[in-house]
Amino acid sequence: MVTQNREIEFVTSGITASDGDGVKLTRVIGSPEINMLDPFLLFDAFESDQAEDYIGGFPSHPHRGFETVTYLLAGQMRHKDNAGHEGVIEPGGVQWMSAAKGIVHSEMPEQKDGLLMGFQLWVNLPAAAKMGEPDYQEFPANKIALEKRENGSEVRVISGTTNYGTSGPVINHHTQPLYMDISLAQGHGFEQTIGMEDNTFIFVIEGELLVGMRKEKLGKRQLGVISEGNNVYVNAGVESRFLLASAKPLNEPVARGGPFVMNTKAEVLQAFEDFHSNRI
Ligand code: FE2
Repeated sequence: MVTQNREIEFVTSGITASDGDGVKLTRVIGSPEINMLDPFLLFDAFESDQAEDYIGGFPSHPHRGFETVTYLLAGQMRHKDNAGHEGVIEPGGVQWMSAAKGIVHSEMPEQKDGLLMGFQLWVNLPAAAKMGEPDYQEFPANKIALEKRENGSEVRVISGTTNYGTSGPVINHHTQPLYMDISLAQGHGFEQTIGMEDNTFIFVIEGELLVGMRKEKLGKRQLGVISEGNNVYVNAGVESRFLLASAKPLNEPVARGGPFVMNTKAEVLQAFEDFHSNRI
């Protein structure tokens, strides 16, 4: 198959937002600049060592119709739901929660001070799975696949498979998402085969990348949507760390209503009704 490299088509730094009980975050997808990147509905980045920015956490709230993916790099978050599921996400750990027909949960910092840093990604579910049973895929840092390459590069694979055959533990058959955390030394490259039809983004955690054959710069805390092709190629202008996310679009109608994402407005109204009558 002919290799077609993906190039940057859109860059955003997101907007400063507040969610939950006053948690300061940067909303990078799900913002006025980029409403969604099918099937990615939202991408939030949070990073602060000021307790007042995160201490309120995300008290009890519902979700229906999609999956929330929390990836923590620093700090601890305690998660608790209405079905008795509870746990603490530690640095390097992932919680991939399929809310499906409904979960009411809280996500609270398990710390009074210090750095809290991480990401939340929302991945949409197809109509046929929106009312399925809720499910969790949770993995601490040592269960996330780590591929160490000869040049010193490190690839942490949450889901998907690298070109060298390392597969992440999270499975999602609906959109077959690939979600990786990649660290590169200065001057080193990274290449990843992806689906030709996938929607794909790169988010730079640290450093600066040169993306594609055009070598367009993508800086720290910038998200780049990369256009059609079946190959991602980046080079690290300086020592860099970034997230790569890619998945098949659902191409279904999307009706959003806060914590509910369904196919129609009526289904969103039903979700609010179900929540208020304790049916979630
Ligand atoms: Fe939530």
